[in-house]
Amino acid sequence: MKTRICGTGSALPKRVVKNEDLSKIMDTSDEWIKSRTGIAARHLAVEETLVQLAAEASRQALKEAGIAAKELDMILAGTISADNILPSLACELQRELGAAKAVAFDINAACSGFLFALQTADVYIKSGQYRNILVVGGEILSKLMDWNDRSTCVLFGDGAGAAVVCPDETCGILSGVQGSDGARGSVLSCVGRRNNNPYVTNSTALSFVSMDGQEVYKFAVRTVPKAIAEALEKAGLTVEDIDLFVLHQANIRIIESVSKRLKVPMEKFPTNLSWCGNISAGSVPILLDDVNRRGLLKKGDKVVLAGFGAGLTWGASVMTW
Ligand code: UT7
Repeated sequence: MKTRICGTGSALPKRVVKNEDLSKIMDTSDEWIKSRTGIAARHLAVEETLVQLAAEASRQALKEAGIAAKELDMILAGTISADNILPSLACELQRELGAAKAVAFDINAACSGFLFALQTADVYIKSGQYRNILVVGGEILSKLMDWNDRSTCVLFGDGAGAAVVCPDETCGILSGVQGSDGARGSVLSCVGRRNNNPYVTNSTALSFVSMDGQEVYKFAVRTVPKAIAEALEKAGLTVEDIDLFVLHQANIRIIESVSKRLKVPMEKFPTNLSWCGNISAGSVPILLDDVNRRGLLKKGDKVVLAGFGAGLTWGASVMTW
């Protein structure tokens, strides 16, 4: 028995913010952002909430899968920027969709969030415990950015992607690898709310995402090709067998480096970062939906998904579409 993605969906906020728009409000330029990252624009939430975006993406995925929300056994949401601390995004999504019988919870693995949620769903399906699982990855990262820190805020965007997974005899997930390195977590962090109980003296100042970009870059270009190679070996495949590599969209230079290290042409690495920026847990499912809707995935194609990010965390999955 395999876990097959049988429907995908995605939703981006309406407001498009181009590099030129940012250069009017901070000391940056289209040339710097494009040449260092490949990003030209991103969508930022102004009116939308994350649960609205996630619900829109989920409805598309359910429709393609031909499954009603009330048939869902589980909802897993990869996110670090749920609208509320409580309830979770997954539980809010359950309410929005009317998925009354689903078990729902969030997974915090930053940019690997969708991969980790997908691999968790795979284990539940293979165990026979659940059949129909909605896996979501989405963020409104713009609320976690320091808009005075040009080295981080220009990189990220908002949006949500979804996939419905079901058991299948022939197609689906062939292998997966996951990893974490908490010892190096400080290179990409966002401190949470400070304790303010009556017995502590503390500042209540809000904290934002802070990143040592070069350390994260080195981590990504070393770890992602290794994770993909391990996942391929577990699946008994080689890079030549793979039709598409759907990678986390952080920086075009990282994707080019992975393509070079794996000796796979860039044509096999679709991207959306030029108009989406880095949407953390949303990147992989939004891109997957884009390639699915554009008809770039045919039944039987071999696909690799890979993510990496804060934690540090990383994951790769190999599947037959
Ligand atoms: O989802 C996973 C999360 N993140 C990543 O994967 C990010 C990985 N890292 C990267 O993508 C790159 O390290 C960055 C794109 C973040 C930065 O590129 P870089 O080539 O490592 O640049 P840098 O940080 O070394 O900065 C070079 C210069 C600095 O100026 P000085 O010190 O050389 O005068 C920065 O102050 O660029 C300056 N700079 C900017 N200039 C214009 C930093 N941000 C900006 C900006 N506009 N937005």
